[in-house]
Amino acid sequence: MDILITGGTGFIGSLLVPVLAGADDRDQGDRLTLLTRHPERAAARHASLVARGRVRLIRSLDELGRDEAFDAVINLAGEGIADRPWTAQRRRELHASRIVLTESLGDWMRRARHKPSVLISGSAVGWYGDQGNRLLEEEAAADTGAYTHRLCDDWEKAALAAAPEGTRVCILRTGVVIGPGGGLLRRLLPLFGLGLGGPVGSGEQYVSWVSLSDVVQVILRLLTDRELRGVFNLTGPRPVTNAEFAQTLAGLLRRPALLRVPTSVLRLTMGDMSALLLDSQRALPSRLLQLRYNFLHPTLEDALRWTLSRRG
Ligand SMILES: NC(=O)c1ccc[n+]([C@@H]2O[C@H](COP(=O)([O-])OP(=O)(O)OC[C@H]3O[C@@H](n4cnc5c(N)ncnc54)[C@H](OP(=O)(O)O)[C@@H]3O)[C@@H](O)[C@H]2O)c1
Repeated sequence: MDILITGGTGFIGSLLVPVLAGADDRDQGDRLTLLTRHPERAAARHASLVARGRVRLIRSLDELGRDEAFDAVINLAGEGIADRPWTAQRRRELHASRIVLTESLGDWMRRARHKPSVLISGSAVGWYGDQGNRLLEEEAAADTGAYTHRLCDDWEKAALAAAPEGTRVCILRTGVVIGPGGGLLRRLLPLFGLGLGGPVGSGEQYVSWVSLSDVVQVILRLLTDRELRGVFNLTGPRPVTNAEFAQTLAGLLRRPALLRVPTSVLRLTMGDMSALLLDSQRALPSRLLQLRYNFLHPTLEDALRWTLSRRG
């Protein structure tokens, strides 16, 4: 397949790109075009795939002509939601890097002579907002006041609007991705490793997590199964409370998880962004379970053990 990927240079891309491009296989693999603001950096990272013609790097969609033919588009680009406080300027950056970019992708797809058969586009369980211990299947209603809802909802709508007629759209409402070298865990490990980790707030809020290798396997399935379209909760089958998360991680590291960070301290230090740690989403991957998708890491402990075993 020829696949165009935005956001392929990030944490999810770190496993997705080599798997799709067939890094371990000289004969098999897709041909990938990655949109990135830093092509030199990406070229150094994927030097052998670039040399073998499996990965091409572009800085702008303007580099794509009308005759360029992609079978699929995977759209993951976005400024890090947890990287900086949500000032008005930062909200504009979070919005532009997802929604404006998705709209540009739509402009290109409309111009292209050959339309991709599928658009797989990102979103997050933050779409649901703060929902306590309610079980959230894909058709659950959202807490529409949450900023994460508005950002994800605009992103989902932009993806649906961007797809030309006849292009399947699959939306990934992704949970906290657990894997080596990135994501939330990269920030937590130094603290938990020193025995300074613990639950945040009441600890009763739910964390919907998913292993990076399951994210990649699900994307592979969505690329090839022509029956699949619409929204998918891309989360593990057993979400945990924040306190269980802290205990499981600390237990695997053989450290205590006693230091609770009070809600008031989080609100004071993180402002609105504290919602990322305090809001509760107990999402269930109902559609993946209906498809009998076999999770590689069905429990948080499996996902954490796998991650810790691959830590460099
Ligand atoms: N990791 C998670 O736990 C998680 C959970 C739910 C949803 N998601 C969503 O899934 C997507 C991928 O996640 P990730 O963890 O792989 O992200 P990541 O490591 O932060 O990587 C972000 C990607 O987006 C691109 N990007 C960032 N800002 C951009 C901008 N202003 N314009 C164009 N491209 C930009 C980056 O490309 P360059 O720097 O190369 O240009 C990079 O490839 C993100 O949109 C994220 O919100 C992630």
